[in-house]
Formats: sequence, structure tokens, C-alpha cells
Amino acid sequence: MKKAISVTVNGVPYRHEVEPRLLLVYYLREVLGLTGTHIGCDTTSCGACTVIMNGLAVKSCTVLAVQAEGATILTVEGLAKDRTLHPIQEGFWEEHGLQCGFCTPGMMLTALQILERNPEPSEEEIRHGLDGNLCRCTGYQHIVNSIRYASRKIKEEGGTAIPETAGRERR
Ligand code: FES
Ligand code: FES
Repeated sequence: MKKAISVTVNGVPYRHEVEPRLLLVYYLREVLGLTGTHIGCDTTSCGACTVIMNGLAVKSCTVLAVQAEGATILTVEGLAKDRTLHPIQEGFWEEHGLQCGFCTPGMMLTALQILERNPEPSEEEIRHGLDGNLCRCTGYQHIVNSIRYASRKIKEEGGTAIPETAGRERR
């Protein structure tokens, strides 16, 4: 039997009837049409499906849509503001942090969680924070550089890593 859920994604409120078994990643991709969130495995290993839910990075392939009831979610499509890239997007561009781009949305959202918790992380802290996100193309070094770029830019601008629309971390 379908269940009604209400969620806010990238600042937009939605209400839908969904099957209880529907995974959040399919809700985002197939019901909302937000296809930036990718699926790279079926064992919760790759992190390509990472989104920010209530201020925390989650693998949306391992959350049921019904568990997101009442949640505030940020996907890659919600990062840019008025066609201006978010510092993390700019960082990946400037530092060549992507090649095929399949892991990139998940990488960027995990990066925001790293920077939200520690605005000036060391290389080791960044690499540890990225443990749950796999990339086949880059060898990771340029991703680390991209996140350091974003860290500097966010500090310069005096902003926060996770935008307001994503809900801040609920502790
Ligand atoms: S699709 Fe691989 S962790 Fe979610
Ligand atoms: S850029 Fe291709 S998997 Fe990371």
C-alpha cells in the first residue's frame, strides 16, 4: 500500500504517494527527475548516490523514500545559486577534480559535510572523509585539491559549506 510523504528538496516542497520499498535514490531520480544523483553499486559502497539529508551526507540508495518523510534534502542540482557555481563546484572545475563525472555529485556533497564539520581540513582529514566515495578516474589527488580550493573560497566569502536550503545538521 502506498504511503504519502512530504519532503523539501533543494528548497522546493513535494508531496507524493510512494511504495514503502521505494529507495530514496529512485524517488529523487525517477519521481522528481533529479538525475544528478547516480547509482554506482548495489552494496552501499560507492557513494555516487550521496545527498545531504537534514544536514548530513547520506547514501540515498540505502534510505527508503518513506524514511525521508519531513526531511530537507540537498542534491547536486541545488548547489548553484542564480547560475553562479557553489565554491565546491568551482573547486572541482578549477582543480580538475573530475573526468567522467559519474562520482562527482556524490563527491561534492560529501565534501560539503567534511567542510561543514571542519572548515580547514588537512589532506589526511579530507581523504579520511572521502572514505565512502569511490572514483575510478581521478586517483583522488585532484579531488583533494578541489576540496581545499572550496575551503579557501568559503573562508574568503565568509559563507557556510552547506547552504541554508539543505537544513543544518540536526544533532
Ligand atoms: S549507489 Fe553505491 S553507495 Fe549508493
Ligand atoms: S570522475 Fe569518473 S568516477 Fe570519478
